[in-house]
Amino acid sequence: MADQRIRVLIIDDVPETRENLKKLLMFEHDMEVVGAAATAEEGIRLARDLQPDVVLLDINLPGMSGISAVEQIMEVAPLTQVVMMSVQSDADYLRRAMLAGARDFLAKPFSADELVATVRRVHRTRRPPPVLPPTGPLPGGGRGTQGKVVAVYSPKGGVGTTLIAVNLAVALQKPERRVALIDASLPFGDIGVFLNLQGPRSIADLARLEEIDPEAFTLSLVSHVSGLKVLLAPPRPELAEYVTAEAMKRILNMARTLFDIVVMDTTTQPTDTTLLILDEADQIVLVVTPDVPTIKNARLFFDVITQLNYPPQKTLMILNKMDRRFGITAEMVEQALKHPVGAQIPWDEITVLNSINKGAPLVAQRSKPIVQAILQLAGRVEEALFAPQEVEEARKRSGR
Ligand SMILES: Nc1ncnc2c1ncn2[C@@H]1O[C@H](COP(=O)(O)OP(=O)(O)OP(=O)(O)O)[C@@H](O)[C@H]1O
Ligand SMILES: [Mg+2]
Repeated sequence: MADQRIRVLIIDDVPETRENLKKLLMFEHDMEVVGAAATAEEGIRLARDLQPDVVLLDINLPGMSGISAVEQIMEVAPLTQVVMMSVQSDADYLRRAMLAGARDFLAKPFSADELVATVRRVHRTRRPPPVLPPTGPLPGGGRGTQGKVVAVYSPKGGVGTTLIAVNLAVALQKPERRVALIDASLPFGDIGVFLNLQGPRSIADLARLEEIDPEAFTLSLVSHVSGLKVLLAPPRPELAEYVTAEAMKRILNMARTLFDIVVMDTTTQPTDTTLLILDEADQIVLVVTPDVPTIKNARLFFDVITQLNYPPQKTLMILNKMDRRFGITAEMVEQALKHPVGAQIPWDEITVLNSINKGAPLVAQRSKPIVQAILQLAGRVEEALFAPQEVEEARKRSGR
Protein backbone atom coordinates (compact mmCIF):
# COMPACT_ATOMS: atom_id res chain seq x y z
CA MET A 1 0.00 0.00 0.00
CA ALA A 2 1.28 3.40 -0.97
CA ASP A 3 1.02 4.89 2.52
CA GLN A 4 3.17 2.11 3.93
CA ARG A 5 6.13 2.77 1.69
CA ILE A 6 9.37 3.88 3.23
CA ARG A 7 9.68 7.58 2.43
CA VAL A 8 13.27 8.46 1.61
CA LEU A 9 14.92 11.86 1.32
CA ILE A 10 18.28 12.13 -0.46
CA ILE A 11 20.78 14.84 0.44
CA ASP A 12 23.88 14.87 -1.74
CA ASP A 13 25.58 17.71 -3.58
CA VAL A 14 26.56 15.58 -6.60
CA PRO A 15 23.67 15.55 -9.12
CA GLU A 16 24.67 12.16 -10.59
CA THR A 17 24.68 10.57 -7.14
CA ARG A 18 21.20 11.90 -6.43
CA GLU A 19 19.96 10.57 -9.75
CA ASN A 20 21.62 7.22 -9.21
CA LEU A 21 20.16 6.79 -5.76
CA LYS A 22 16.72 7.71 -7.06
CA LYS A 23 17.00 5.15 -9.83
CA LEU A 24 18.18 2.43 -7.49
CA LEU A 25 15.30 3.01 -5.09
CA MET A 26 12.70 3.44 -7.83
CA PHE A 27 12.60 -0.32 -8.40
CA GLU A 28 11.79 -1.09 -4.79
CA HIS A 29 8.06 -1.52 -4.34
CA ASP A 30 8.25 -0.61 -0.64
CA MET A 31 10.21 2.61 -1.02
CA GLU A 32 9.54 6.05 -2.36
CA VAL A 33 11.96 8.93 -2.85
CA VAL A 34 9.99 11.91 -1.57
CA GLY A 35 12.65 14.52 -2.14
CA ALA A 36 16.24 15.29 -3.03
CA ALA A 37 18.41 18.17 -1.94
CA ALA A 38 21.81 19.42 -3.03
CA THR A 39 22.69 21.32 0.14
CA ALA A 40 22.39 20.67 3.85
CA GLU A 41 20.15 23.73 4.33
CA GLU A 42 17.73 22.60 1.66
CA GLY A 43 17.86 19.04 3.02
CA ILE A 44 17.02 20.17 6.54
CA ARG A 45 14.12 22.23 5.25
CA LEU A 46 12.80 19.26 3.25
CA ALA A 47 13.28 16.96 6.24
CA ARG A 48 11.16 19.34 8.34
CA ASP A 49 8.43 19.67 5.70
CA LEU A 50 8.33 16.05 4.52
CA GLN A 51 9.15 14.20 7.76
CA PRO A 52 10.69 11.31 5.76
CA ASP A 53 11.24 7.88 7.28
CA VAL A 54 14.85 7.73 6.15
CA VAL A 55 17.36 10.39 5.09
CA LEU A 56 20.37 9.39 3.01
CA LEU A 57 22.89 12.06 3.91
CA ASP A 58 26.23 12.63 2.25
CA ILE A 59 28.75 13.42 4.95
CA ASN A 60 30.68 15.92 2.84
CA LEU A 61 28.31 18.69 1.99
CA PRO A 62 29.50 22.18 1.16
CA GLY A 63 28.79 24.82 3.76
CA MET A 64 27.85 22.65 6.71
CA SER A 65 29.52 19.80 8.54
CA GLY A 66 27.85 16.40 8.33
CA ILE A 67 27.58 16.41 12.11
CA SER A 68 25.67 19.70 12.25
CA ALA A 69 23.45 18.45 9.46
CA VAL A 70 22.59 15.26 11.39
CA GLU A 71 21.92 17.24 14.57
CA GLN A 72 19.64 19.68 12.80
CA ILE A 73 17.76 16.95 10.97
CA MET A 74 17.20 15.14 14.27
CA GLU A 75 15.84 18.38 15.70
CA VAL A 76 13.35 19.13 12.93
CA ALA A 77 12.43 15.49 12.16
CA PRO A 78 13.02 13.49 15.32
CA LEU A 79 11.48 10.27 13.99
CA THR A 80 13.62 10.24 10.87
CA GLN A 81 16.43 7.71 10.62
CA VAL A 82 19.58 9.20 9.14
CA VAL A 83 21.95 7.03 7.12
CA MET A 84 25.33 8.64 6.47
CA MET A 85 27.04 8.07 3.17
CA SER A 86 30.77 8.53 3.07
CA VAL A 87 34.02 7.42 1.60
CA GLN A 88 36.26 5.45 3.92
CA SER A 89 38.67 8.29 4.63
CA ASP A 90 35.89 10.01 6.52
CA ALA A 91 36.01 7.44 9.31
CA ASP A 92 36.68 9.85 12.15
CA TYR A 93 34.02 12.22 11.01
CA LEU A 94 31.58 9.43 10.55
CA ARG A 95 32.13 8.27 14.09
CA ARG A 96 31.12 11.68 15.41
CA ALA A 97 28.13 11.82 13.09
CA MET A 98 26.96 8.49 14.48
CA LEU A 99 27.24 9.96 17.94
CA ALA A 100 25.18 12.94 16.79
CA GLY A 101 22.32 10.59 15.99
CA ALA A 102 22.90 8.95 12.61
CA ARG A 103 21.61 5.40 12.63
CA ASP A 104 23.83 3.68 10.10
CA PHE A 105 26.31 4.36 7.41
CA LEU A 106 27.06 3.32 3.87
CA ALA A 107 30.66 3.41 2.69
CA LYS A 108 30.87 4.66 -0.90
CA PRO A 109 30.83 2.98 -3.31
CA PHE A 110 28.04 0.73 -2.15
CA SER A 111 25.91 -1.76 -4.05
CA ALA A 112 22.20 -1.45 -4.71
CA ASP A 113 21.65 -4.44 -2.39
CA GLU A 114 23.51 -2.76 0.45
CA LEU A 115 21.60 0.47 -0.05
CA VAL A 116 18.20 -1.17 -0.08
CA ALA A 117 19.02 -3.47 2.83
CA THR A 118 20.26 -0.55 4.93
CA VAL A 119 17.19 1.58 4.24
CA ARG A 120 14.89 -1.32 5.12
CA ARG A 121 16.86 -2.18 8.23
CA VAL A 122 16.98 1.28 9.74
CA HIS A 123 13.30 1.69 8.97
CA ARG A 124 12.35 -1.64 10.50
CA THR A 125 14.34 -1.04 13.64
CA ARG A 126 13.29 2.58 13.99
CA ARG A 127 12.76 3.97 17.41
CA PRO A 128 12.62 7.41 18.97
CA PRO A 129 15.82 9.38 18.55
CA PRO A 130 18.47 8.29 21.00
CA VAL A 131 19.39 10.71 23.72
CA LEU A 132 23.09 10.14 23.92
CA PRO A 133 25.53 11.34 26.48
CA PRO A 134 28.51 13.11 24.84
CA THR A 135 30.71 10.06 25.05
CA GLY A 136 27.89 7.54 24.94
CA PRO A 137 27.60 4.46 22.84
CA LEU A 138 26.50 4.44 19.24
CA PRO A 139 22.82 4.59 18.45
CA GLY A 140 21.39 1.15 18.08
CA GLY A 141 23.92 -0.32 20.42
CA GLY A 142 25.00 -0.02 23.98
CA ARG A 143 21.62 -0.69 25.45
CA GLY A 144 23.15 -1.66 28.71
CA THR A 145 22.15 -5.26 28.07
CA GLN A 146 24.69 -8.04 28.21
CA GLY A 147 24.68 -9.67 24.82
CA LYS A 148 25.11 -13.44 24.63
CA VAL A 149 28.18 -15.09 23.19
CA VAL A 150 27.81 -18.27 21.13
CA ALA A 151 31.10 -20.01 20.35
CA VAL A 152 31.00 -22.50 17.50
CA TYR A 153 33.85 -24.91 18.09
CA SER A 154 35.17 -28.29 17.09
CA PRO A 155 38.19 -30.20 18.36
CA LYS A 156 38.65 -31.45 14.79
CA GLY A 157 39.34 -29.34 11.70
CA GLY A 158 37.33 -29.41 8.49
CA VAL A 159 34.09 -30.61 10.08
CA GLY A 160 32.05 -27.56 9.06
CA THR A 161 32.56 -25.21 12.02
CA THR A 162 32.76 -22.13 9.81
CA LEU A 163 29.78 -23.21 7.71
CA ILE A 164 27.69 -23.65 10.86
CA ALA A 165 28.91 -20.41 12.51
CA VAL A 166 28.12 -18.33 9.42
CA ASN A 167 24.72 -19.84 8.73
CA LEU A 168 23.71 -19.92 12.37
CA ALA A 169 24.53 -16.21 12.67
CA VAL A 170 22.48 -15.39 9.57
CA ALA A 171 19.58 -17.50 10.88
CA LEU A 172 19.70 -15.74 14.26
CA GLN A 173 19.69 -12.28 12.66
CA LYS A 174 16.24 -10.69 12.93
CA PRO A 175 15.08 -7.14 12.26
CA GLU A 176 14.78 -6.23 15.92
CA ARG A 177 17.87 -8.08 17.02
CA ARG A 178 21.50 -7.12 16.59
CA VAL A 179 23.74 -10.04 15.75
CA ALA A 180 27.49 -9.93 15.20
CA LEU A 181 29.67 -12.64 13.74
CA ILE A 182 33.32 -12.60 14.76
CA ASP A 183 35.94 -14.52 12.85
CA ALA A 184 38.25 -15.84 15.55
CA SER A 185 39.29 -18.83 13.49
CA LEU A 186 42.84 -17.59 13.47
CA PRO A 187 45.15 -17.24 11.71
CA PHE A 188 43.28 -18.47 8.63
CA GLY A 189 39.74 -17.22 9.11
CA ASP A 190 37.59 -17.40 6.02
CA ILE A 191 34.25 -15.87 6.89
CA GLY A 192 35.03 -13.13 4.37
CA VAL A 193 34.97 -15.81 1.67
CA PHE A 194 31.86 -17.55 3.00
CA LEU A 195 29.92 -14.28 2.97
CA ASN A 196 31.73 -12.61 0.09
CA LEU A 197 32.70 -9.68 2.30
CA GLN A 198 35.74 -7.47 2.39
CA GLY A 199 36.51 -4.57 4.61
CA PRO A 200 39.30 -2.20 5.44
CA ARG A 201 39.55 -3.43 9.04
CA SER A 202 39.77 -6.71 10.88
CA ILE A 203 39.87 -8.20 14.35
CA ALA A 204 43.62 -7.45 14.44
CA ASP A 205 42.99 -3.70 14.25
CA LEU A 206 40.76 -3.88 17.32
CA ALA A 207 43.15 -6.21 19.11
CA ARG A 208 45.90 -3.61 18.80
CA LEU A 209 43.90 -0.98 20.67
CA GLU A 210 44.52 -0.73 24.38
CA GLU A 211 41.00 0.49 24.88
CA ILE A 212 38.13 -0.25 22.55
CA ASP A 213 35.33 2.27 22.31
CA PRO A 214 31.97 1.62 20.65
CA GLU A 215 32.82 3.76 17.65
CA ALA A 216 36.08 1.96 16.94
CA PHE A 217 34.27 -1.35 17.27
CA THR A 218 31.44 -0.37 14.96
CA LEU A 219 33.80 1.02 12.36
CA SER A 220 35.73 -2.24 12.27
CA LEU A 221 32.67 -4.19 11.20
CA VAL A 222 31.37 -4.91 7.75
CA SER A 223 27.67 -5.22 7.05
CA HIS A 224 26.20 -8.25 5.37
CA VAL A 225 23.04 -7.76 3.35
CA SER A 226 21.14 -9.85 5.93
CA GLY A 227 21.78 -7.15 8.53
CA LEU A 228 24.46 -9.21 10.22
CA LYS A 229 27.60 -7.28 11.24
CA VAL A 230 30.86 -9.09 10.73
CA LEU A 231 34.30 -8.67 12.26
CA LEU A 232 36.65 -10.25 9.76
CA ALA A 233 39.87 -12.17 10.35
CA PRO A 234 43.07 -10.28 9.50
CA PRO A 235 44.07 -10.16 5.84
CA ARG A 236 47.54 -11.56 6.64
CA PRO A 237 48.05 -14.51 9.02
CA GLU A 238 50.91 -12.89 10.95
CA LEU A 239 48.54 -10.13 12.12
CA ALA A 240 46.62 -12.72 14.12
CA GLU A 241 49.38 -12.52 16.73
CA TYR A 242 47.79 -9.35 18.04
CA VAL A 243 44.69 -11.28 18.98
CA THR A 244 45.83 -12.42 22.41
CA ALA A 245 43.45 -13.70 25.06
CA GLU A 246 43.49 -10.27 26.77
CA ALA A 247 42.69 -8.53 23.49
CA MET A 248 39.90 -11.01 22.82
CA LYS A 249 38.44 -10.33 26.24
CA ARG A 250 38.31 -6.59 25.46
CA ILE A 251 36.71 -7.30 22.09
CA LEU A 252 34.08 -9.58 23.60
CA ASN A 253 33.28 -7.14 26.39
CA MET A 254 32.55 -4.43 23.87
CA ALA A 255 30.72 -6.79 21.50
CA ARG A 256 28.38 -7.79 24.33
CA THR A 257 27.39 -4.20 24.99
CA LEU A 258 26.61 -3.48 21.34
CA PHE A 259 24.95 -6.72 20.23
CA ASP A 260 22.26 -9.07 21.47
CA ILE A 261 24.05 -12.14 20.14
CA VAL A 262 27.71 -12.52 19.22
CA VAL A 263 28.51 -15.65 17.23
CA MET A 264 32.17 -16.66 17.18
CA ASP A 265 33.88 -18.88 14.64
CA THR A 266 36.87 -20.52 16.28
CA THR A 267 39.90 -22.57 15.45
CA THR A 268 40.50 -26.12 16.57
CA GLN A 269 43.84 -25.19 18.15
CA PRO A 270 43.47 -24.92 21.93
CA THR A 271 45.23 -21.55 22.11
CA ASP A 272 44.75 -19.20 25.05
CA THR A 273 42.50 -17.12 22.84
CA THR A 274 40.31 -20.10 21.96
CA LEU A 275 40.09 -21.14 25.61
CA LEU A 276 39.14 -17.60 26.59
CA ILE A 277 36.33 -17.66 24.02
CA LEU A 278 35.06 -21.00 25.32
CA ASP A 279 35.20 -19.68 28.89
CA GLU A 280 33.37 -16.50 27.99
CA ALA A 281 30.72 -18.22 25.87
CA ASP A 282 27.18 -18.47 27.17
CA GLN A 283 26.69 -21.33 24.76
CA ILE A 284 29.18 -23.57 22.99
CA VAL A 285 27.97 -25.18 19.79
CA LEU A 286 30.17 -28.23 19.50
CA VAL A 287 30.39 -29.47 15.93
CA VAL A 288 30.97 -33.21 15.56
CA THR A 289 30.90 -35.32 12.41
CA PRO A 290 29.96 -38.99 12.38
CA ASP A 291 33.47 -40.44 12.14
CA VAL A 292 35.66 -42.08 14.72
CA PRO A 293 38.58 -39.58 14.83
CA THR A 294 36.21 -36.66 15.43
CA ILE A 295 34.25 -38.54 18.08
CA LYS A 296 37.54 -39.41 19.79
CA ASN A 297 38.54 -35.73 19.89
CA ALA A 298 35.09 -34.75 21.10
CA ARG A 299 35.52 -37.15 24.02
CA LEU A 300 38.79 -35.42 24.93
CA PHE A 301 36.99 -32.10 24.70
CA PHE A 302 34.29 -33.27 27.13
CA ASP A 303 37.04 -34.49 29.50
CA VAL A 304 38.63 -31.05 29.47
CA ILE A 305 35.43 -29.08 29.99
CA THR A 306 34.39 -31.38 32.83
CA GLN A 307 37.65 -30.48 34.54
CA LEU A 308 36.92 -26.82 33.85
CA ASN A 309 33.54 -27.28 35.55
CA TYR A 310 31.49 -26.10 32.60
CA PRO A 311 27.86 -27.08 33.22
CA PRO A 312 26.69 -29.77 30.74
CA GLN A 313 24.01 -27.48 29.29
CA LYS A 314 26.69 -24.98 28.25
CA THR A 315 27.54 -27.32 25.36
CA LEU A 316 25.05 -27.91 22.58
CA MET A 317 26.49 -30.80 20.60
CA ILE A 318 25.45 -31.00 16.98
CA LEU A 319 26.19 -33.50 14.27
CA ASN A 320 27.18 -32.19 10.85
CA LYS A 321 27.59 -34.07 7.57
CA MET A 322 25.06 -36.67 8.63
CA ASP A 323 24.23 -39.40 6.17
CA ARG A 324 22.66 -42.75 6.84
CA ARG A 325 25.20 -44.42 4.59
CA PHE A 326 28.00 -43.60 7.03
CA GLY A 327 26.65 -46.10 9.56
CA ILE A 328 27.05 -43.88 12.64
CA THR A 329 23.77 -42.65 14.11
CA ALA A 330 23.02 -39.83 16.54
CA GLU A 331 22.15 -42.40 19.21
CA MET A 332 25.58 -44.02 18.82
CA VAL A 333 27.31 -40.65 19.24
CA GLU A 334 25.14 -39.81 22.25
CA GLN A 335 26.08 -43.09 23.86
CA ALA A 336 29.75 -42.72 23.11
CA LEU A 337 29.95 -39.17 24.44
CA LYS A 338 27.23 -39.31 27.13
CA HIS A 339 25.81 -36.07 25.84
CA PRO A 340 22.61 -35.37 23.88
CA VAL A 341 22.71 -34.39 20.22
CA GLY A 342 20.96 -31.04 19.83
CA ALA A 343 20.65 -30.96 16.03
CA GLN A 344 21.62 -32.97 13.00
CA ILE A 345 22.75 -31.23 9.83
CA PRO A 346 22.62 -33.45 6.76
CA TRP A 347 25.44 -34.04 4.32
CA ASP A 348 24.71 -31.97 1.20
CA GLU A 349 27.87 -31.43 -0.73
CA ILE A 350 26.43 -29.63 -3.73
CA THR A 351 24.32 -27.12 -1.82
CA VAL A 352 27.17 -26.40 0.59
CA LEU A 353 29.87 -26.01 -2.04
CA ASN A 354 27.63 -23.80 -4.15
CA SER A 355 26.96 -21.60 -1.17
CA ILE A 356 30.62 -21.31 -0.20
CA ASN A 357 31.82 -20.72 -3.74
CA LYS A 358 29.22 -18.02 -4.33
CA GLY A 359 29.75 -16.45 -0.94
CA ALA A 360 26.00 -16.63 -0.31
CA PRO A 361 24.70 -18.10 2.95
CA LEU A 362 22.51 -21.18 2.75
CA VAL A 363 19.63 -19.75 4.66
CA ALA A 364 17.81 -18.27 1.65
CA GLN A 365 17.16 -21.77 0.24
CA ARG A 366 14.48 -22.56 2.80
CA SER A 367 13.14 -25.71 1.16
CA LYS A 368 16.44 -27.61 1.53
CA PRO A 369 16.67 -30.07 4.41
CA ILE A 370 20.10 -28.67 5.35
CA VAL A 371 18.58 -25.20 5.74
CA GLN A 372 15.67 -26.54 7.77
CA ALA A 373 18.22 -28.22 10.04
CA ILE A 374 20.16 -24.98 10.49
CA LEU A 375 16.95 -23.09 11.32
CA GLN A 376 16.16 -25.75 13.90
CA LEU A 377 19.63 -25.35 15.32
CA ALA A 378 19.04 -21.57 15.54
CA GLY A 379 15.84 -22.32 17.45
CA ARG A 380 17.72 -24.52 19.90
CA VAL A 381 20.33 -21.84 20.43
CA GLU A 382 17.63 -19.23 21.06
CA GLU A 383 15.99 -21.52 23.60
CA ALA A 384 19.28 -21.99 25.36
CA LEU A 385 20.07 -18.26 25.43
CA PHE A 386 16.77 -16.61 26.15
CA ALA A 387 13.75 -17.04 28.37
CA PRO A 388 10.88 -18.94 26.65
CA GLN A 389 8.75 -15.80 26.51
CA GLU A 390 11.41 -13.83 24.61
CA VAL A 391 11.83 -16.67 22.10
CA GLU A 392 8.08 -16.87 21.53
CA GLU A 393 7.79 -13.12 20.99
CA ALA A 394 10.69 -13.09 18.53
CA ARG A 395 9.10 -16.00 16.65
CA LYS A 396 5.75 -14.24 16.38
CA ARG A 397 7.40 -11.06 15.14
CA SER A 398 9.36 -12.85 12.44
CA GLY A 399 6.47 -15.13 11.47
CA ARG A 400 8.52 -18.28 12.00
N1 LIG B 1 26.74 -30.46 5.86
C1 LIG B 1 27.72 -30.54 4.95
N2 LIG B 1 27.56 -31.28 3.83
C2 LIG B 1 28.55 -31.36 2.91
N3 LIG B 1 29.72 -30.74 3.01
C3 LIG B 1 29.95 -29.98 4.10
C4 LIG B 1 28.96 -29.84 5.12
N4 LIG B 1 29.46 -29.03 6.08
C5 LIG B 1 30.70 -28.67 5.67
N5 LIG B 1 30.99 -29.24 4.49
C6 LIG B 1 32.26 -29.14 3.74
O1 LIG B 1 33.31 -29.31 4.64
C7 LIG B 1 34.39 -28.46 4.31
C8 LIG B 1 34.87 -27.74 5.54
O2 LIG B 1 33.89 -26.80 5.98
P1 LIG B 1 34.29 -25.61 6.93
O3 LIG B 1 35.34 -24.79 6.31
O4 LIG B 1 33.03 -24.96 7.35
O5 LIG B 1 34.89 -26.46 8.13
P2 LIG B 1 35.81 -25.98 9.35
O6 LIG B 1 35.57 -26.98 10.42
O7 LIG B 1 35.53 -24.57 9.65
O8 LIG B 1 37.26 -26.14 8.73
P3 LIG B 1 38.66 -25.51 9.25
O9 LIG B 1 39.14 -26.45 10.30
O10 LIG B 1 39.50 -25.49 8.03
O11 LIG B 1 38.36 -24.14 9.77
C9 LIG B 1 33.91 -27.52 3.24
O12 LIG B 1 34.52 -27.88 2.04
C10 LIG B 1 32.44 -27.76 3.13
O13 LIG B 1 32.06 -27.80 1.78
MG1 LIG C 1 36.78 -22.95 9.76
